[in-house]
Amino acid sequence: MIIAIDGPAGSGKSTVARGVARRLGFTYLDSGALYRAVTLLALEGGADLDDGAALGRLASAASIELRDRDGESVEVHVDGRDVSHEIRTPHVTGASSTVAAHAEVRAALLSKQRALIAAGNYVVEGRDIGTVVAPDAALKVFLTADADERARRRAAELERRGLQMEAREVKAAIEKRDRLDSTRSAAPLRAAEDAVNLDTTGLESKDVIERVLELVDGVRAAGTS
Ligand code: CDP
Repeated sequence: MIIAIDGPAGSGKSTVARGVARRLGFTYLDSGALYRAVTLLALEGGADLDDGAALGRLASAASIELRDRDGESVEVHVDGRDVSHEIRTPHVTGASSTVAAHAEVRAALLSKQRALIAAGNYVVEGRDIGTVVAPDAALKVFLTADADERARRRAAELERRGLQMEAREVKAAIEKRDRLDSTRSAAPLRAAEDAVNLDTTGLESKDVIERVLELVDGVRAAGTS
């Protein structure tokens, strides 16, 4: 069974997807970590971020491994190196949407994602999971929240990791990425037609997790009736 959770930055995807996976005993897949890992490699290698073909080759060749740390967080290893922290710096985050816009990069990472989720029960989080990666997912959820709240959440998350950034600056960065992700031609950020839209503004993640679990129960009940 695949559960797809899509939405823009700061909508609560990671916390909710991780929480739902833990409660159900499913594996959690953070597709954004793959795009971030390729972006890190591109920046470190001095690649031209507008060269889709070269970035696609980089994405295909990279060995990216996601290792679960007791269901609490996921370690990201690229070619054997732990890059869990590096991939979440504002520099990598800012460049990730440019790298992710290339069809060649998306094709390479699509194969990796499909191979991972082919066997087993997964909660997959991203931008195009319900539309492209797992169009047959048993449940698709699209999370949103207003831009100010998303910026506050992201600023708090950065602070927890020791990075100070003003909420205003975070909001501008998020809005820029939303714009790039929503307007690209390859697999843009959008809700699948059959996705359940959940506005998480003002909600705590535990409440959103409960709501998604209710939806899973509904899907399971429909499957057995
Ligand atoms: O955590 P946050 O929502 O800020 O970002 P992320 O999920 O780690 O994704 C980082 C970037 O990767 C996004 O801004 C997208 O450009 C790209 N991405 C994508 O294009 N498709 C996905 N399925 C996941 C991420």
